[in-house]
Amino acid sequence: MRGKFAKVELMEDLMAKIISLSKRRGFIFPGSEIYGGLANSFDYGPLGVELKNNIKQEWWKRFVQQRSDIVGIDAALIMNPKVWEASGHLENFSDPLVECKKCNTRFREDQIQDEKCPNCKGKEFSLPRNFNLMLKTFLGPAEDAANTVYFRPETAQAMFVDFKNILSASRQNIPFGIAQVGKAFRNEITPGNFIFRTREFEQMEIEYFVKEEEWEEHFENWLNEMKQWLKDLGVSEKKLHYVDIPDGERAHYSKRTVDIEYEYPFGQKELYGLSYRGDFDLKNHFPKDAPCRDAESKDAFWPHVIEPTWGVDRSVLVAMLEAYHEEEVPTAEEGESATRVVMKFPFWVAPVKVAILPLVKNKPEVVKKAREVFDMLKLQFPCQYDEAGAIGRRYRRQDEIGTPFCVTVDFDTLKDNSVTIRDRDTMKQNRVSLDSLITTIKERLNDKDN
Ligand code: GAP
Repeated sequence: MRGKFAKVELMEDLMAKIISLSKRRGFIFPGSEIYGGLANSFDYGPLGVELKNNIKQEWWKRFVQQRSDIVGIDAALIMNPKVWEASGHLENFSDPLVECKKCNTRFREDQIQDEKCPNCKGKEFSLPRNFNLMLKTFLGPAEDAANTVYFRPETAQAMFVDFKNILSASRQNIPFGIAQVGKAFRNEITPGNFIFRTREFEQMEIEYFVKEEEWEEHFENWLNEMKQWLKDLGVSEKKLHYVDIPDGERAHYSKRTVDIEYEYPFGQKELYGLSYRGDFDLKNHFPKDAPCRDAESKDAFWPHVIEPTWGVDRSVLVAMLEAYHEEEVPTAEEGESATRVVMKFPFWVAPVKVAILPLVKNKPEVVKKAREVFDMLKLQFPCQYDEAGAIGRRYRRQDEIGTPFCVTVDFDTLKDNSVTIRDRDTMKQNRVSLDSLITTIKERLNDKDN
């Protein structure tokens, strides 16, 4: 149950609230902050890294470990530059850039609305030029063209380049997929909106190899997988839009793309994508040598590719936007305000699953017992021990980071070996014996309604 109390009307400044909560509670901070930051770089803090890992681990479990037709890899971030020549990225992976002649700010051409500069309202611009988004560096001591390399702008290419090695080592047959989770880099002209568009980010991608005549069926299957994933991440369907990208607007490799867009507080924009890449990539990397052989006809062929792609950071962002609630609380706990902030993450997403709280901190027997309960539970669940401040305030702190259950140890615990469990969403409390505490929490965490 996730909505017992009236939800306070969501405010226009939801993004500001998420950014502030992220910093205050240790989800996400501005990167290099003590040196004035570094344009749109962010660091994941103690809770953010748990949240992000939960998302990546669930994705890996669901799409790699629990399937027999998908295998994973973890490739180098920097690849031979010939990869980017063959993939078309050196030639085509660019955005049109224009510069305002008045304030000299540079923008992506599509950001200019009503022919006015978004910065100074100037009306004169340079002619658009294509700006390649790949981030360059040099390998080795000489900074010259021969040593120029690029940080990968997508995780996808390694899955094509390594295709033959993977095929022979894993003994897979078409249809099968290769999955990878990792960093990608793009020299974005205008990063922004917190972790929505940054120059360094993470992707979770699958290249699913199929026979050409079966691509449509697999495309539909993957669209359904992505819909189910979004549901499980707690994203409300009414905020999602499935947009078929028309000819001429798709990436250079794509024959069909559906962008999964989300209504962020700053507008409807891309969250994930699903593309049919045809045989573009494998043909470019293995032009002479078709890598697969038909089991019956023995003819060699290039498989076609369906590519579902998920941004990790955008997953974190939507999980936080959807989880954020302000609620009027009918019976405020111990002098707390009548409004509580609660992150109603699905339980699997929550960075901390259980908080262990001694009711008072000045009674050594209670504190000792609470420590024992923490030592027992921490072996089973990601836990936090907290003894600082009034109990009501501690509950609020756990609500704000989305902890599903608080276990409180009090004087009665010493007598009857039972504790109180408080539920994040209903705020209801009930007594549970320490002997059945682990089973009870496991059962409640697995409750499919959450
Ligand atoms: N291999 C296909 C590919 O890279 P893309 O649509 O360019 O496709 C895939 O990127 C996903 O990566 C996007 O749907 C988005 O979630 C995420 N993404 C792309 N650029 C990003 C950026 N600058 N910052 C954060 N996430 C980004």
